[in-house]
Amino acid sequence: MTLEEKLMQMTQLIAACLTDRAQATITGPTGRVDFTEAQIASVGSTLNLIGAAEMKAIQKAHLERDPHAIPLLFMMDVIHGYRTIYPIPLAMGATFDTSLMEKCCAMAARESAAAGVQVTFGPMVDLVRDARWGRVMESTGEDPYLNCLMSRAQVRGFQHGNEDESDNISACVKHYAAYGAAEAGRDYTEVNLSEHALREFYLPAYRAAIDEGVDMLMTAFNLLNGIPTAGHKWLINDILRGEWGFDGTIITDYSSLVQMKTHGYTETAFDCGRIGLETTTDIEMMSATFLEAGAECIKRGYLTEADIDKSLRRILDLKEKHGLFDNPYGKASEELEDKLFLSEEHRAICRTAAEKSMVLLKNDGVLPIKDGTKNVAVIGPLAKCGMIGFWSCAGRAEEAVSAYDGISAIVGEENVRYAVGCSSAVRAAADPDMIAAAKEAAEGAEYAILVLGEEREMSGESNSKTDISLPEAQRELIRAVSAVNKNTVVVLYTGRPLALADVIDDAPAYMIAWQPGTEGGTAIANLLFGKCDFTARLPMSFPYYTGQCPIFYNRTRTGRPKPKNDGKHYIYTSSYLDSPVGPLFPFGYGLSYTRFEIGEVSLSSDKMARGGSVTAKATVKNTGSRRGTTLVQLYINDRFASIVRPMQELRGFMHVELDAGEAREVSFEITEDMLKFHTASGEYSAESGEFGVYVALSAESGKAATFVLE
Ligand code: GLC
Repeated sequence: MTLEEKLMQMTQLIAACLTDRAQATITGPTGRVDFTEAQIASVGSTLNLIGAAEMKAIQKAHLERDPHAIPLLFMMDVIHGYRTIYPIPLAMGATFDTSLMEKCCAMAARESAAAGVQVTFGPMVDLVRDARWGRVMESTGEDPYLNCLMSRAQVRGFQHGNEDESDNISACVKHYAAYGAAEAGRDYTEVNLSEHALREFYLPAYRAAIDEGVDMLMTAFNLLNGIPTAGHKWLINDILRGEWGFDGTIITDYSSLVQMKTHGYTETAFDCGRIGLETTTDIEMMSATFLEAGAECIKRGYLTEADIDKSLRRILDLKEKHGLFDNPYGKASEELEDKLFLSEEHRAICRTAAEKSMVLLKNDGVLPIKDGTKNVAVIGPLAKCGMIGFWSCAGRAEEAVSAYDGISAIVGEENVRYAVGCSSAVRAAADPDMIAAAKEAAEGAEYAILVLGEEREMSGESNSKTDISLPEAQRELIRAVSAVNKNTVVVLYTGRPLALADVIDDAPAYMIAWQPGTEGGTAIANLLFGKCDFTARLPMSFPYYTGQCPIFYNRTRTGRPKPKNDGKHYIYTSSYLDSPVGPLFPFGYGLSYTRFEIGEVSLSSDKMARGGSVTAKATVKNTGSRRGTTLVQLYINDRFASIVRPMQELRGFMHVELDAGEAREVSFEITEDMLKFHTASGEYSAESGEFGVYVALSAESGKAATFVLE
């Protein structure tokens, strides 16, 4: 292979560049790049195709053009489903169910392989704490421990979830690193983090994916402490390749190398390419700096052709892993697509995931809807839409079950009264006529179900918001409908936590449906009518007000904490004049149709020897009137440390299902490993001293028992 052919093998173009010559031109921060026929013939991989037929056509044409007949690798953002869509990752985080996560990814892999895709650009494991950022929908939340478990589960699901290896696809963990800490919740910006914060909170989930054997990693768009993560030597060469020993394939994000220029880091495209190559990036997505800089880098001694060959080897090994040299069409099959897409088996997986992801925030005795109910109002601008998420790949909203459809399937459409109620626009004002029509639909109905929140495109990439409360139109509608129907239930679609302080008292019941996917409406109806119960818990804190963002449970105590969270202002304490400090609904919170209480935690000992363990026990009781499931959570607090530790850190959880009135003792073993952190001396170890232990039903709650690590 010539050097140019090698560099093109390391270049990834969208499928349109390969099928439509007019699009074989990239425009972007460095201006146009016109590829020659020969260069296009040597491209190594492509992204964003749709379907087996297209894949086979592209591959066939490519093999006829490429002088070495090296098959293309096909990649896609299969983040929460390919065509049968499961809930967004933030909703999957709410399930606290890694085996369900794995099952969903395996299903997505089957459909992707049938469509001719070999690599997904997932999991996205960025730790997220700022709900203004649209991409929190793509993460599994604010907790490093949960994110690590979900990171591993997604890699297992995509790469090993199916017995037939040909149904599995490569995963690509992203966005390395710390994209979730983007300044002010905006995309493509600056991240400033100490090494301690990085290693303690932001890096573990990427490491978890690598330890799970992820095939690929994607760098990010953000700066980290002033240096682009797309070419960050410390992050990539020292930590990723060095400390962690990652020898998989690194891909950039979409033209992120040329964006180094726009960031103000490099002056020339040459330097963008040089830095990308020096930081062992193997594939450049949708920019051409490798092509422009590669030969010059070798000529000027920045790297050797052997370095290029290392990247080439990683790319060819990945193609070999997927058997493309023997069968360049992989598992692509229109027949298999028809069999798998929207199949009842796949729908059932998505339905279960949706039911287990939705969170009941408030229920003042209104839910579940009584059996035999025959007259229901379904109101809202999102009531009839199929709510799939931002990264729904080949999914189609019109194929997803709406809340209206789901509810109609239970009570009969003839028993449903519908009204739009208001606009769903981001700053919609109330419309009196629409409100009047909604009130008319609600009056006399046994229940009024409002379906509100965010449209699909109000979260996801580049969809940040400065206000995460409900728009005025929706707040007005809630108040108006609740005034005429005491059984008003608010169902909220959202890709992010919402600030609900202004509305939470205006209706007796609220549930978060997230962006639930193909079976969302059925899941909503099954939960509302009590055919199944709520089991999900919040993977991200829900603030009172946007002004509290970023807000997260695993924060430190401060030097002057408020004496109590009673809404009063305590001067000279760490607090706000106009809001409580903590969230309206904390991480780990969620209700179900029964009630649970948890007793005090007891410890097997008040001392832990080095290498030893302590067992924490507590009794959880179902004090309600029906069987139900709760999530018992274990948190620890290292009381005094060389770097101040969070008030609580999740270290374990378990679902506990109990009959009405049943009580059960649960126990967690606490080991020295669970107490380790990156200390001031740079070690990763547990420091002697006092630890608090919480066994609770949500963060920011529970009474601690303490032990001393010797
Ligand atoms: C986007 C996203 C990234 C995605 C890629 C390809 O800009 O940042 O997550 O995988 O481009 O679509």
